[in-house]
Amino acid sequence: MTATTETSAATTHQGILAWVNEIAELTQPDSIHWCTGSDEEWEQLTSALEGTGTFTRLNPEIKPNSFYAASDPTDVARVEDRTYICSVDEKDCGPTNNWMDPEEMKTLMRGLYAGCMKGRTMYVIPFVMGHLDAEKPMFGIELTDSAYVTVSMRVMARMGTEVLRRIEELAANGTEDVQWVPALHSVGKPLADGEADVAWPCNDTKYIVQFPEERMIWSFGSGYGGNALLGKKCYALRIASVMARDEGWMAEHMLILKLTSPHGVTKYIAAAFPSACGKTNLAMLKPTIPGWKVEAIGDDIAWMRIGEDGRLWAVNPEFGFFGVAPGTNEHTNPNAMATINKGNSVFTNVALTEDGDVWWEGLENTPARATSWKGQPWTPDSEELSSHPNSRYCTPIKQCDMLAAEYDDPRGVPIDAILFGGRRKTTIPLVTEARDWTHGTFMGATLSSETTAAAVGAVGIVRRDPMAMLPFIGYNAGDYFTHWINMGKDNDESKMPRIFYVNWFRRDEDGGFLWPGFGENSRVLKWVIERLEGQAAAVETPIGHVPAPGALDVDGLDMTPAAIEAALAVDVEEWKAEIPQITEWFEKFGDDLPAVFWTELDGLKERLGA
Ligand code: GDP
Ligand code: PGA
Ligand code: MN
Ligand code: MN
Repeated sequence: MTATTETSAATTHQGILAWVNEIAELTQPDSIHWCTGSDEEWEQLTSALEGTGTFTRLNPEIKPNSFYAASDPTDVARVEDRTYICSVDEKDCGPTNNWMDPEEMKTLMRGLYAGCMKGRTMYVIPFVMGHLDAEKPMFGIELTDSAYVTVSMRVMARMGTEVLRRIEELAANGTEDVQWVPALHSVGKPLADGEADVAWPCNDTKYIVQFPEERMIWSFGSGYGGNALLGKKCYALRIASVMARDEGWMAEHMLILKLTSPHGVTKYIAAAFPSACGKTNLAMLKPTIPGWKVEAIGDDIAWMRIGEDGRLWAVNPEFGFFGVAPGTNEHTNPNAMATINKGNSVFTNVALTEDGDVWWEGLENTPARATSWKGQPWTPDSEELSSHPNSRYCTPIKQCDMLAAEYDDPRGVPIDAILFGGRRKTTIPLVTEARDWTHGTFMGATLSSETTAAAVGAVGIVRRDPMAMLPFIGYNAGDYFTHWINMGKDNDESKMPRIFYVNWFRRDEDGGFLWPGFGENSRVLKWVIERLEGQAAAVETPIGHVPAPGALDVDGLDMTPAAIEAALAVDVEEWKAEIPQITEWFEKFGDDLPAVFWTELDGLKERLGA
């Protein structure tokens, strides 16, 4: 029998209790800890993590209650080739996901899980994605043998006793079954009797597995956020996208922001960019154009439902920011800097300075000496980077001063515009407006971007990343496209958000970014809003509407007219070269591809003269 620790908040919910016991039998932890989410628990866990060498406490005068961690050098990002959608029918996982028969996968993973928590504590983390007082709260229970994951979950999701009590209450009152997603995680490194722990336990064998029909998650071998904080990518995107398909809503890889014009006009914008392509930065944008104001609502995930008014309403299901550190500084993202400087944050795979602060490439005040993420002495002359390109900060969203008050509204906000975007050196102009919902969906479905360090594998390779959801669609992407088309068709399209396609990453001949980005992106947001209001001029091109000459506010912008023109240009030859790639991409989906996409492609070809 496994002991339950004193901090226990064990439950009256028989289903949860039975599952916790079943997993404890299988994984054999030394003890079970029911997480309360309290400050005392945070103290206890962070101190324990200091004890194992996982955490180094940062200088409290610089970053109070904050910690530095360095991972095993092999466990730094999401592992897409180890990520599976184990639908009952292989066809339901589609051509973009890895698949294995669910029973076969369970047998294989039960083998890995057997005794895998020996010598460790199993933490029971009751959590809710979205609001606890949502009409239908989206509960989950994560079981993990990692204190690092438990501490990070407290930053990233609403969790603890309050959540557990709410599940129990609803289960006791309700006639209807209270749904909760079982999410099992292990770093996969049992400890023998007396064996000392390592700072970052993990396993060379990794599996990140979603069982869509059962709404269940099994993760093994990694401690990295996207693989291990199971409320985030695994639940709020992969499992939720399946729920959303079944129930007529949308779970998307999108930031949400509120934009207010100098005239007091307020709009809500959602934007889907692949990982490490600018969502967190845009969500916290500090406009460079006078009188405009941005407030953040979410930086990674949007759950969107049609409201009673027929509009598309979005909530951010998360409770923290899990941001890319390199490139973040007082100029590019002062709002993120202010948020993390308040403390209560975890920094992973950045550099540690001699005064007990963190540093990363792109941050001001380069230190003369530091310890790199690999634990090596580092100086500005070192050949290696001080920080991993996918190093991250994990910080409470409530610490962000420019968080919109609407963040706390379980109904969310009505979305006026959706932006798609990615990293493309060529071809894709700064901003293009779709002609209608179907065309916008086509733009999203053909979105392409250079791969980044957010996933293990080669960086800088152009690939199709539909709606920035390639690694996160929990079912057949062909069916996902149909779902998008239907969201426009089954609802009043005039009330749906207008769709735009942006690219902050186009390059000049010397390889530099054409567009300065960051705060200057407010100029693009301004044009988007003025389009919605019928105020800004556009010209029609083969790929959609782009700003008419003079329509983009470039007042005070440090760019030559030629560079601005190059950023906005639609190059017909470059676009013709995209056609075979889009054709090949669409062919993957066979009959599952909505036929209207072929019509859209034919139209594009015709307009390009291809
Ligand atoms: P996310 O992973 O989509 O949330 O992307 P982030 O906002 O964290 O940004 C990822 C990387 O892209 C960081 O290194 C940023 O500094 C950089 N980045 C973000 N926005 C821009 C931009 O507008 N222009 C350029 N050149 N880089 C950007
Ligand atoms: P990101 O989130 O989109 O902010 O990079 C992490 C991820 O997608 O892996
Ligand atoms: Mn993401
Ligand atoms: Mn981000």
